[in-house]
Amino acid sequence: MTLDDLIYKPGLLRGDRILVTGGGTGLGRVMSEALLMLGATVYICGRRGPVVEQTAEELMAAHAQHGGRVVPLVCDIRDDAAIMAMLDAIWADGGALTGLINNAAGNFVSRTEDLSARAFDAIANIVFRGSFYTTLECGKRWLAEGRKASVVSILTTWVWNGSPYTVPSAMSKAGLHAMTQSLAVEWGGRGIRFNAIAPGLFPTEGMSARLNPQGGEHKVEGNPMGRNGQMPELANLAVFLMGPGSEYLTGQTIAIDGGQYQATGGNFASLASMTDADWQAARTSIQRRNAADKQQRGS
Ligand code: HXC
Repeated sequence: MTLDDLIYKPGLLRGDRILVTGGGTGLGRVMSEALLMLGATVYICGRRGPVVEQTAEELMAAHAQHGGRVVPLVCDIRDDAAIMAMLDAIWADGGALTGLINNAAGNFVSRTEDLSARAFDAIANIVFRGSFYTTLECGKRWLAEGRKASVVSILTTWVWNGSPYTVPSAMSKAGLHAMTQSLAVEWGGRGIRFNAIAPGLFPTEGMSARLNPQGGEHKVEGNPMGRNGQMPELANLAVFLMGPGSEYLTGQTIAIDGGQYQATGGNFASLASMTDADWQAARTSIQRRNAADKQQRGS
């Protein structure tokens, strides 16, 4: 990404301090890069230390000239104590955050009848509980200190219509959509804004491994624009919602999907055609990937 891909003036976010959960990879990394290029201090957290450290190094090597900074932090947002320790470290490193992007997520496709309670928790504990805990702990600090702040959550269009075969994710993201609307009102008078983005298909490595385990080009049929999203398009929307210039905008979830949701519903209904053998193969592939990730983070 270059500054030409972003529609904002250089230095727009100078002085801003923003936490991006799951900022080491995928959409989180892209948004972190954009914030950095506009001069912000960006804290990126993730469960795998080497991953966030490498991302921070690469982003700084590419963009240090814009005056911002990327700080990698290891944090599992399923653990409230770990979130508090991370926020203590951030506040000690130059003061309050000015923004939070709830981006960290987990998801895999599965027939719902094949899920265990643990499988539900594996997703809900990251997406639903983890994002809420992070928002709550930041919010308590902002309210106590009387600070303005902006929260952007990365959701999906399934918050409006659900998604078969990714039910724990759909339920969790719908919960965050409700959080966005609710807290926009409850804390709006105290300067804290809440918005959300519902991206369509912006293929990332983590998502393809678990949502398209059979491989092949990851493209939802029927997109009116005939293409997937491009990362700078997402970054421009995230910066707009996060930054100055959208001060009167709160409580909204905005889709960026080329019209996919209106055209097709944008969810996984088409997986109804998968056979038992297909599901078995998908599960094996997803679990192999989960085990490899687990080994990398030593848990
Ligand atoms: C059924 C499954 C399963 C599968 C795992 N489980 N895979 N059940 N079908 N395919 C079950 C396991 O059997 C186990 O239950 C339980 O889930 C937990 O499994 P673990 O391997 O211990 O999972 P864990 O290490 O906790 O990690 C799971 C995860 C992981 C959180 C989902 O994949 C992860 O960390 N993902 C992060 C990256 C990611 O997913 N990115 C994609 C986000 S995309 P039992 O009962 O057997 O013990 C996204 C939106 C996409 O969010 C929008 C697209 C438009």
